[in-house]
Amino acid sequence: MSVVSTDAIDKWLLNRKWAPRDLSAPPAGSDLAPVPGDPGMPLLGHSLEMLRLGVRYGLKRYETHGPVSWVRAFGITIVAAAGPEAAQVVLANKDKAYSQQGWTYFIGPFFNRGLMLLDFDEHLYHRRLMQQAFTTDRLRGYLDRIGDVARRGLAGWRPGERFTVYPALKRLTLDIATDVFMAADLPAADSERITRAFIDTVRAGTALIRLPVGRWGAGLRGRKVLEDYFRRSLPAKRASDSDDLFAALCHARTDEGEMFSDDDVVNHMIFLMMAAHDTSTITTSAVAYYLGKHPEWQEKVRAESLALGESPPDMAALDRLGTLDLVIKESLRLVAPVPSLVRKTVRDTDLLGHYVPANTLVSVTPWVNHLVPEYWPDPRRFDPERFAEGRREDKVHRMAWMPFGGGVHKCIGMHFGMYEVKYLVHELVRRFEWSVPSDYTVRWDPTALPIPTDDLPVTLRAR
Ligand code: HEM
Repeated sequence: MSVVSTDAIDKWLLNRKWAPRDLSAPPAGSDLAPVPGDPGMPLLGHSLEMLRLGVRYGLKRYETHGPVSWVRAFGITIVAAAGPEAAQVVLANKDKAYSQQGWTYFIGPFFNRGLMLLDFDEHLYHRRLMQQAFTTDRLRGYLDRIGDVARRGLAGWRPGERFTVYPALKRLTLDIATDVFMAADLPAADSERITRAFIDTVRAGTALIRLPVGRWGAGLRGRKVLEDYFRRSLPAKRASDSDDLFAALCHARTDEGEMFSDDDVVNHMIFLMMAAHDTSTITTSAVAYYLGKHPEWQEKVRAESLALGESPPDMAALDRLGTLDLVIKESLRLVAPVPSLVRKTVRDTDLLGHYVPANTLVSVTPWVNHLVPEYWPDPRRFDPERFAEGRREDKVHRMAWMPFGGGVHKCIGMHFGMYEVKYLVHELVRRFEWSVPSDYTVRWDPTALPIPTDDLPVTLRAR
């Protein structure tokens, strides 16, 4: 029997005191201050706090050290740029000091040359081309496909006392991704293999140990399977006029007639699948959780959805779901699907008056920003109205609410993602009612992306 409660362990981890130490001395004559912080325990650094406490630890450090501080964890040193002001400096990146090589360190081998891993002029060129796959017309086509897959998938959900929402949504968003992205009618064996490879590749990005076995190795093998698959499918896609995203990338063309190479299309597809999938699953799960916890909001959302009538909603109809929009925004605030963004300095730079040397990993922390009490009244409270006209608490700072990031790398799939989540929840509330016990609080895994550690069980009833 355990004699120490988990709360007591959390409290102990949160309140441990360490002797402060500066990161690097600024060059002689500089008026910058060093970055404050501390290395934590020998070898482990602050890994335990991060693994166990996630965003709570980020907030604690912000409180203790301010917006810029350094920490050691998982064998690396990282400078936290926490809070809206610091995020603004890093993401606006005026002196081009921050590069995407920060991401390369974590996910480079699996998402090589994905859009988010490209820098500066090259990134701009690829982003402009990719934008053609995300025009309003394209989105309209994707939405029809999303609707079809969602209705088919939800028809298979079986109500029950303990229905686990997270894996069911994960399956659904994966089916959406295969359909919308590839329009692929894969034979069962291929579908299983591609799905497995995809899951392994995504999971590898959060592997703590980098060996050819385990998560890391499976990710490398998964990447190879995906590369082979997309490469084989390319000639047919280039020749087709299908309305999926794969075809859109194959046909994207600049005014000068330049196009993505075969390698580019393969790399972008693999990254896009990853970027779209977990984020939408986490967002929809968070919405499902808060609607289960707050039945009055579930009712309001349902009433609006039912008012749209029987026909599948188009973009304009989804735009009329104002209450759902507020709920999604508040859910994205309380559970940021991408809790941190990583950069690496390519030159010495000034971060809010602190000296950050070249080759330093820097993290921007949307989840911390969403909960900082100086910017958000009663930050832990689920209160969708805070986004309503007349309140608009998110307007306090452009980086106070930033689930999609900011600056030139701001999520290119933001509208796609918002519409996908809206569509899914719209279909959900029409078919089902669900609830969680009033004393239930979900725990979001703090070790990687915030997924519910217990798969989010709810009582699901058909309507
Ligand atoms: C609710 C869902 C989503 C959330 C919360 C989200 C979040 C983010 C964030 C925070 C970034 C910025 C990363 C950085 O600056 O380092 C990003 C970038 C990106 N996202 Fe999303 N995303 C979502 C959905 C999607 C979807 C559906 C797609 C594709 C269909 C997508 C594709 C991308 C791409 C390609 C980038 C890189 C953009 C660039 O570097 O120019 N995302 N996303």
